[in-house]
Amino acid sequence: MPTVQRHDVLILGSGLAGLRAALEIARRLGGSADIGIVSKVQLMRSHSVCAEGGTGAVLRPEEGDSLELHAWDTVKGSDFLADQDVVDAFVEACPQELRQLEHWGLAWTRRDDGRLWQRAFGGHSFPRATMAADKTGLFEMQTLYDTLVKYQTFTRYDEVFVTSIVVQDGEFRGLTAIDSATGEFLGLCGKALIIASGGLGTLYGFTTYSQTVTGDGQAMAYRAGLPLEDPEFIQFHPTGLVPSGILMTEGCRGEGGYLRNSEGERFMEQYAPERMEMAPRDIISRSMMTEILAGRGFEGPGGLDYLHLDLTHLGADKINERLPLIREVCMDFLGLDPIAALIPVRPVAHYSMGGIEADVTGGTRVGGIWAAGEVACVSVHGANRLGCNSTAECLVWGGITGAEVAKHLRTNPPMPDLPGERLQAEHRRIFGDMLQRDGGENPYEIRRELRQIMDGHVGVFRTTQELSAGLSKIRSLKERFADVTVQDKGRIYNSNLQNTLEVECLLDLAEIIVVAALARTESRGGHAQRDYPERDDENFLKHTLVSSNDEGPRVAYKPVAITKWKPVERTY
Ligand code: FUM
Repeated sequence: MPTVQRHDVLILGSGLAGLRAALEIARRLGGSADIGIVSKVQLMRSHSVCAEGGTGAVLRPEEGDSLELHAWDTVKGSDFLADQDVVDAFVEACPQELRQLEHWGLAWTRRDDGRLWQRAFGGHSFPRATMAADKTGLFEMQTLYDTLVKYQTFTRYDEVFVTSIVVQDGEFRGLTAIDSATGEFLGLCGKALIIASGGLGTLYGFTTYSQTVTGDGQAMAYRAGLPLEDPEFIQFHPTGLVPSGILMTEGCRGEGGYLRNSEGERFMEQYAPERMEMAPRDIISRSMMTEILAGRGFEGPGGLDYLHLDLTHLGADKINERLPLIREVCMDFLGLDPIAALIPVRPVAHYSMGGIEADVTGGTRVGGIWAAGEVACVSVHGANRLGCNSTAECLVWGGITGAEVAKHLRTNPPMPDLPGERLQAEHRRIFGDMLQRDGGENPYEIRRELRQIMDGHVGVFRTTQELSAGLSKIRSLKERFADVTVQDKGRIYNSNLQNTLEVECLLDLAEIIVVAALARTESRGGHAQRDYPERDDENFLKHTLVSSNDEGPRVAYKPVAITKWKPVERTY
């Protein structure tokens, strides 16, 4: 029988949401908290360290900002699909999260008067992106981890790849996992689980995500019976560096950078005359694709036609102080210095607004399971997230779910049993079946084709025809996956096996996204359909819920919480 480890709470994922949750539990329960943090990478390698531009919060009411304005910007940015009660809770919690990080010692960028610097971000009516130059996520992660270490109440499961979430009778029972370093198959048991495993962006070939971001949390939750909410809404960030996809932070435009087409024009004047380069991402990405498709872009490698991000008027001092990472990346990857040269960029897969359905406390439909951060859909971003609201979301719902779990643990719930037959079945599925399959299909080839399909059929603009064709191709890849061969039959650091399990997750998620996209016959936020170009509030002012059944993904809907603002036309 595999070893079973037990902790009061298991946290799946060690990014901003996971560490913030652990810290909240430790802070509330002190030494009595027994926390297991499980991550498929080394803890500080979580994708959160790649967050660049900033974290949104209202810090300056005396200078004209307000919670009401932050909430309104978020709701309008969401194309009115955000739950407005959730947005209120979010904007109220953000300032305290930032102050808390300040007290824990984060070295924020500051103004000359010593107060925190905040820069402009798209769709926000006031500069709210609080930052540590353009390395905000790295500094936030270090601050959280350094603070957590003081509590000494947690066990790290680094490089432990979770393969399934075990649920029985509507209650969380445990996790199954592979310890990469030893190859050992493990059971992990807890009285509570917080899923904080991040996004799913490597479904796309052209993406800002680290290669480790493969939607495992969403896929495992879905298989365990939890619905995914609003999965069709994928965010394309306007400025991915061509050809690598590396994020050129929105902070570039927040600091005054321009977008130019091949004729040198600041084309955003045509699409968002008031906000220009500071419009929300869905609008800028559609505008950029319109320019490229109209032939006003530059020919790029492998079909990655591009436009220009122009920072040359900002001057060396500003770029060196506020955008040092951007400069370094441009020089290292393209040999160009943005102080003097234009940067080639195009819209890039960056974020998923959808995720595991969760309420305002991060609670899910399964007893003992909470979800926080990008993996969850609470829903604060609706159909389109505003920049700098994501790291903020991770901090806020890390804190909220941590507090909820601490409350839960104070009630002394029993440690559940991880049923032996479920452990054995999962062991058989992976080591008896998947590792032994011999059909000759290469998982990396399947992943490459899947990314091509997502890039080509499920991009910034969609059509029913492209989505339907994409769905048949995804389904045929799923059939081929049944014949996949894992060539490495060993146990120690079997990345071949892990990557194959990740591809299985990505295939499930691709199917879910496209099924949901086909069902939503309107355009809203990140879901722009050529054949349904208008928003249709009469029929689609509602959240999608996708659940698993024997025939595949099943789509249902639930209402949006509208407390203050009725939908209006979105102009910027
Ligand atoms: O552009 C950026 O720095 C990204 C920020 C975000 O996604 O919130």
